[in-house]
Amino acid sequence: MKHPIPNQTNSWKNLNIHFKEIHNLHLFDLFKNDNNRFKNFSFNFKNKLLVDISKNRITNTTIKILLNLAKEMNLSQAIESMFCGEKINLTEQRPVLHTALRNFSNNPIFFNESDIMLEINKVLNKMKYFSEKIINGTWKGYSGKSIQNVVNIGIGGSDLGPKMVTEALRFYKNHLNIFFISNIDGTEIFNILKLIDFETTIFLISSKTFTTQETIVNFKTIKDIFFKKVNNKNILDKHFFAITVNENEAMRYGITKENIFKLWDWVGGRYSLWSAMGLSIILSLGFDNFIQLLSGAYDMDIHFRTTSFEKNIPVLLGLIGIWYNNFFNSETEAILPYDQYLYNFPMYIQQSNMESNGKNIDKNGNKVSWQTGPIIWGTVGTNGQHSFYQLIHQGTKLIPCDFIASIFSHNPINDHHVILLSNFFAQTHALAFGQNFYKNNNLKKNTLHDEYVEKFKFFEGNRPSNSFLFQKMDPYSLGVLISLYEHKIFTQGVIFNIFSFDQWGVELGKNISNNIFKNLVNKKKEFNYDSSTEGLINFYNNIKK
Ligand code: F6P
Repeated sequence: MKHPIPNQTNSWKNLNIHFKEIHNLHLFDLFKNDNNRFKNFSFNFKNKLLVDISKNRITNTTIKILLNLAKEMNLSQAIESMFCGEKINLTEQRPVLHTALRNFSNNPIFFNESDIMLEINKVLNKMKYFSEKIINGTWKGYSGKSIQNVVNIGIGGSDLGPKMVTEALRFYKNHLNIFFISNIDGTEIFNILKLIDFETTIFLISSKTFTTQETIVNFKTIKDIFFKKVNNKNILDKHFFAITVNENEAMRYGITKENIFKLWDWVGGRYSLWSAMGLSIILSLGFDNFIQLLSGAYDMDIHFRTTSFEKNIPVLLGLIGIWYNNFFNSETEAILPYDQYLYNFPMYIQQSNMESNGKNIDKNGNKVSWQTGPIIWGTVGTNGQHSFYQLIHQGTKLIPCDFIASIFSHNPINDHHVILLSNFFAQTHALAFGQNFYKNNNLKKNTLHDEYVEKFKFFEGNRPSNSFLFQKMDPYSLGVLISLYEHKIFTQGVIFNIFSFDQWGVELGKNISNNIFKNLVNKKKEFNYDSSTEGLINFYNNIKK
């Protein structure tokens, strides 16, 4: 089947023409000429979330042509194919069914002729009962003590999602201490070992494949240290658990079958926090909060699947992202949560977006001649304001921004939250309108120097942003937020005509690193790399000898 090529569609051509017509239009004028702009370009999601896209450099015509593009790229069919479990991850011959993990309708979803909801619910139940035993203290360690610490050992999607969610919902946390080890850098193990004692700690070895170098090496190191310190035959049964597709490999490392929590090939690593990969989330927040998280994601799934595209939040956000990425040639998107709890959110979306849409071969197997996924970065406001916002306001690059905040704080202290929100509102306003808004209020210029300095102080504005205003960042709302971004990324992948659910690019580096490891350990003198890499290895080997 030949897939449509985005830059050969009529809509793409129309967008190029439209871009020439409106790229100089200022947001100031767009608002001045339309009193209903906010009303028309904002969406209330179940009174929990308001999404405002009005501060974007778009008109009704822009949206109309973008929606035509979605049509020409068969977005509706693509959405249905994903939800129905077709093998849309063609290069790996797999369906993409993370949405089944939060399918609260419980309607059957078939894969290989069996209803996967049965298995999903079975694992969910296993997680429920296991987590209850750990939380209420009835599960004992080898010495008879209850568990106080949980260490998740995993990397990429087996780390970033659970880490982001447990941090984002820290307010709902129970007494257990949750730690994450991901990096192969021994510093992580070293630091965490100072904070835990083995008697009261369980380790979750989280690896979909159970072959990822970092995770397996970190696991083996911890296991060795544990066994050296404690001579007890129950260590593995009481303290080590695996979350994986590859049960045989986990058992080969000594993990008992009952201690394995299963996931499936059809869950992408970076979309896996909804599966058993979320065990650390359940242990940290309790099962009911996890269900709330899933139900928020489910409600956004329903919205994405059933709402017409003119009102479909992830679809519109995805299309507007394309407008900047492919027509304004914006290279990056900033994610700016005005919520300390969402500190890890930009990093989490960085993986889901960049690993999904960082591709240059289209579905027809040809090199793309259009830009694909953007570079994702950001940090929490107001910290960002005092670091990189200067460039967003006055630099030469156009950086579309997502501002995220909640009306209610979990930790109201004095007027901190009102000040935080004032900054949230002020920044999107300043970025959009610059000084145009205050044209008549300019201070009087007294001297030539004043006049000169005034030029540097000038804010041109016209910098676009989306605003996401939640009522409160509770488990349900976080589920909504994550699912919204997942579907935005999906939408863009369909428009880019790329496969968003594989990640072949990370393989090459992994293989070379395995070979170099052997060179370093064996102090091999002869190898065949480029002169720079060989020079670096030789320098290392000479100093280390
Ligand atoms: O970075 C590549 C990757 O394959 C990610 O997609 C994945 O989340 C991560 O490695 C970890 O993989 P695993 O869960 O199999 O250890």
